[in-house]
Order: sequence, then structure tokens, then C-alpha cells
Amino acid sequence: MHSFRYRDGQLHCEDVDLARVAEELGTPTYVYSAGTILDHYARLDAALAPLDHLICYAVKANSNRAILKLLANAGAGFDIVSGGELYRVLAAGGDSAKCTFAGVGKSREEIEYALEQGVCSFNVESEAELDHIDRIAGAKKTRAPIALRVNPDVDPHTHQYISTGSHENKFGIALERIGAVYEQAAKMRNVEIVGAQMHIGSQIAEAKPFASAIGKVAPVVRELKSKYGIKFLSVGGGMGIIYQRALESGSGKWWREHGNESFAFSVRDYAEAIVPPLRELDVRILVEPGRFLVGNGGVLLTRVRYIKKTGAKKFAIVDAGMNDLIRPALYQSYHEIVPVCRASVSDAGREKIDIVGPVCESGDFFALDREMPELHEGDLLAIMSAGAYGFVMASNYNSRPMPAEALVRGDKFALIRKRQTWEDLVRGEINPEW
Ligand code: LLP
Repeated sequence: MHSFRYRDGQLHCEDVDLARVAEELGTPTYVYSAGTILDHYARLDAALAPLDHLICYAVKANSNRAILKLLANAGAGFDIVSGGELYRVLAAGGDSAKCTFAGVGKSREEIEYALEQGVCSFNVESEAELDHIDRIAGAKKTRAPIALRVNPDVDPHTHQYISTGSHENKFGIALERIGAVYEQAAKMRNVEIVGAQMHIGSQIAEAKPFASAIGKVAPVVRELKSKYGIKFLSVGGGMGIIYQRALESGSGKWWREHGNESFAFSVRDYAEAIVPPLRELDVRILVEPGRFLVGNGGVLLTRVRYIKKTGAKKFAIVDAGMNDLIRPALYQSYHEIVPVCRASVSDAGREKIDIVGPVCESGDFFALDREMPELHEGDLLAIMSAGAYGFVMASNYNSRPMPAEALVRGDKFALIRKRQTWEDLVRGEINPEW
């Protein structure tokens, strides 16, 4: 359940009027709800209660230290994919012993750093990487805890860029090969087999693909447990959220039934699909949700700069761009867009409009032909469901400073990342002497 709601015609995050945040911090600004993120965490934790489990938040979804700290305090572990993410987790007070280190291209420096900090496992994606880790651990006179990433070849029915669990992808080791690679690992002096891992994709809208993947991997896990005494299976992340109708006007059947729901399928459906087969395995279960925890816990606030009409079309040009939130441009993804102040717009004049950014690319849009109330210059909009893969994928393209980030808790909000300045843009650039 997320905590973005209209109150007296003003969109609030928990008890904070978002217009107040925009006034104080400017736009574009990401705003996250601590209450929502903790609610999502608590629901998942409760649904998995029948299992010995650990929720390892996928840091890549939103890596602001304040968010990491919230989750670390709630007891979360972390799924990291780079030395930088491990550094952030530690800076936020997270526990390295609850970190799993994933990713297909870990560097020597990253592996050394993760060994020094004592991560709970390296999730290994290839034989070449396994060799590399063995050698680096040997040179450091230590043993690296490892889990191999199994690719179960399941189609998660999601966007091709975020589907990872089929043989077409670069991720993991095929189910048929996995036994042989574990055998190699068992012979290595500097690695210790501690678990197995899988992850089939992201924004998966139904529970079934998770159950199919677990069904395929379960026999392997049983064998690995008896042969090597593995202690855990990580089933990855990927649970989908609601993007369409993330916020409704408050009337109508759909709203009454689903109002403020965050997830594409219920946490109970997910648990019913995965808990029984996992329970039988009798190993610790790790889950690696990113979007599920933070996706509907954040919005991007942006203001309409200009209204432009051409012969065929009408555009609202807003002050956020594809550099701030790239998901629509990259994945053709849908984000609900709503006015923060309902009174400022008129529902009578609903019309189709493109909501676009100031970046010099035709792909710089947030919505095309979207039916919206009539918009005017200066209107404040909230782009919903922007808490995951929003700020983390932002860039300085077109030399646009990165946006600010704020965190709400109850009736308070705090700046958790300053908006960049123009000076920030050139910091670190060097003119050659010649
Ligand atoms: N574990 C592994 C190994 C992953 O590769 C990922 C995401 C996750 C967990 C977390 O997945 P989640 O629960 O958030 O679905 N930028 C894209 C999403 C890329 C996901 C990459 N891997 C987007 O904006 O949709």
C-alpha cells in the first residue's frame, strides 16, 4: 500500500503536501515515502515468515543512503552489483555479512574489496569469474564464499531488456551445466560453496514464472545440499508493481477495490506460489526485491514550463527530462502523471497531450497522447511510481544537473540529496597542459 493520496485537492505524500516540497526544494525533485517503503518491507517479511529468510534489497533500484539506512534499520540485507554499491551500504550502516554480491563483470578491485569487507556470498555468473575469484582469494590467503547463479530458462513475460532467466541472456549458468561447475568449484582451494542463486527478470506481473523457476531449480538445490551442504537459495527479485492507475481520483469501482495498491499481484499470491516448494528444501531463502520495495514509494515532481501547440499536437514541456527519469524513453514504460493541485486544472477540458522534457531528443517524453485535464504553464505534476530505477539511472545529459531527492516521514520531509549545481557539472574535468 502506498501513501500518496489527495487530501483537500492537494496530493500528499503521507502527511506532507507535495506542493510545499516543490516550493521549498524546487523541481524536478524525487520524493520518497519512508512509510510506504517500510510497509512494503514489512508485508513481504510477514508473507515469508514460514521460511528461514532474509530480504536482500536490490540496491540498484534506489541507492540513496537514506533509503539504505531505513532498510538496514528494518533488518534488511542487500543485493549489490558493484564495489560502489557495497561502499554505499557500509556508509549507510548496513551489514556486509548480509550482502550478496551479484553481477556478470566484477573487477579485481571489487572482488578484493568485497573479500576484505566480508560479504556473505559472491553470486558467480560464469566459470571464468569463478577462476578469477579463486585466484584473488588465494592471493589474499582467504576463502571466498560463493553461490552459482543458475539460469533456469524460464520466460518471465516481461520487457526484453529486463528479462534475465532464459538461455538467450548473458546471465547465469545453464541448468544442464550447473552440476559440473559446482564440481569444479568444489575442487578449488580458495572458494567455499555456500549457496545457489537465480533471478529470472524484473517487473514480472504474475506469480507463476517464479513458481516454474523454483520448480526447475529445486531438484538441483536438493542435490547441492546433500553434496556440498549449501546453506541458502536466493530466488532473486523481479516482483512487478502497478504502474497504470497507480493513483486514481478516488471514485469508481476499480479505485474502491484496488486504491493505493502497489503490487501487480498480491504479496499473498507470491507467497502462496513460492513458500510451499521452498519450505521443503530446508535451506535459508534469500529474496532480492528492488522495485517491489521502493517503486511505488516515490514520485518525481516536475513543473510545466510551456504549453506548445502544433498543427497536429499539443505538448506540455516540463522541467524534468529523460536524463532525470529514463524509463519511458528506454523501455517505453508507462508512468501515471497527475496534477499535484487538482484545483489548478480543469477536468472539463480533458484532452490528449504529450508530456515531454527539455532534452534535445524526440525520445525525451514521459507520456504520449495521454488524456489529461487541461494543463497550464506553472502546473505542478507528479510522475508516479518513480521510486525504483529513477534517480539511479539519471545522468547529466544535455549538461542538466541531477535532480534533488527528498524523504518524507509522517508530517516531515528532508532533503536527502542536494540538487546539483552548474559547478558540479564541470567538477573533476581537467584541461590538458598541452
Ligand atoms: N537481483 C538481480 C540479480 C537483478 O539483476 C535485479 C534487477 C534484481 C535482483 C532486482 O529486480 P527488481 O526486484 O527490482 O525487479 N532498470 C530496469 C530494471 C532493471 C533490473 C535489473 N536487475 C527498469 O527500470 O525497469
